[in-house]
Amino acid sequence: MAEKVLEVKNLVKTFYKDGVKTEALKGVSLELYGGEILGIAGESGCGKSTLSRLCVRLLKPDSGEIRICGELLDSKTAKALRPKIQMVFQNPADTFNPAYSVGSGIMGAGRDLGLTKEESRSKAAELIKVTGLSEDVLKRRPKELSGGQLQRLAIVRALLCSPKILIADEAVSSLDVSVAANIINLLSDLRRSLGIAVMFISHDLGVIASISDRIAVMRAGEIVETGEAESVMTSPKAEYTKKLLEARLG
Ligand SMILES: Nc1ncnc2c1ncn2[C@@H]1O[C@H](COP(=O)(O)OP(=O)(O)O)[C@@H](O)[C@H]1O
Ligand SMILES: [Mg+2]
Repeated sequence: MAEKVLEVKNLVKTFYKDGVKTEALKGVSLELYGGEILGIAGESGCGKSTLSRLCVRLLKPDSGEIRICGELLDSKTAKALRPKIQMVFQNPADTFNPAYSVGSGIMGAGRDLGLTKEESRSKAAELIKVTGLSEDVLKRRPKELSGGQLQRLAIVRALLCSPKILIADEAVSSLDVSVAANIINLLSDLRRSLGIAVMFISHDLGVIASISDRIAVMRAGEIVETGEAESVMTSPKAEYTKKLLEARLG
């Protein structure tokens, strides 16, 4: 049995803004195992990014708990657990400072995570080989690179500290279909070669189905269904999943 690398229990998060209350998460529970790809599907606004931001402690939950490799994530453990769980975002250009080369951005991330220069350099070189890019790209500024190249480099940056978990939050949503497919293949390859677990978040059920072992479907702050990808896609149980599938087939 693979190690349980992430356990989320009864997670609740409510936002108050300008007198408006939004219950972004209303008690979400899920588990992620070493080496698996779990897809999180659901329409825009259902709470997917709130879930991912809580898991990397960019936000604090109102209640509920998150365990990373068995250890409770809280304000005391967040820093020590940070190298175990890393994230890739929708817009790869946001990952890198436009004023510096992407290589210096990657080295800076390594430094923040406590790696030595040499550790960062050799790990980046190893990962860049896997992404199919050449090391020359490290000298470039973000604006000199394509969205697909930058997203590969964002993945390199995220994997520098050999995390157990990678969260990809709409990581292919801003890319053209063929570039998105390449990134999806890369994530699948990395899962296989490095054994990392991936939480792959997307509003697009088709994209989710193409990469995930299991799928959790979210609606309005709750998970309405979780199951093996094939069974969710071919014999969905929740009415909402059926609706999403019908909408997809048009
Ligand atoms: N910082 C915030 N302040 C107020 N409301 C927020 C904040 N972040 C998210 N929300 C609201 O919480 C809900 C869930 O948002 P989000 O997690 O971004 O959904 P998704 O990623 O599925 O599109 C939405 O209604 C959104 O407007
Ligand atoms: Mg989102």
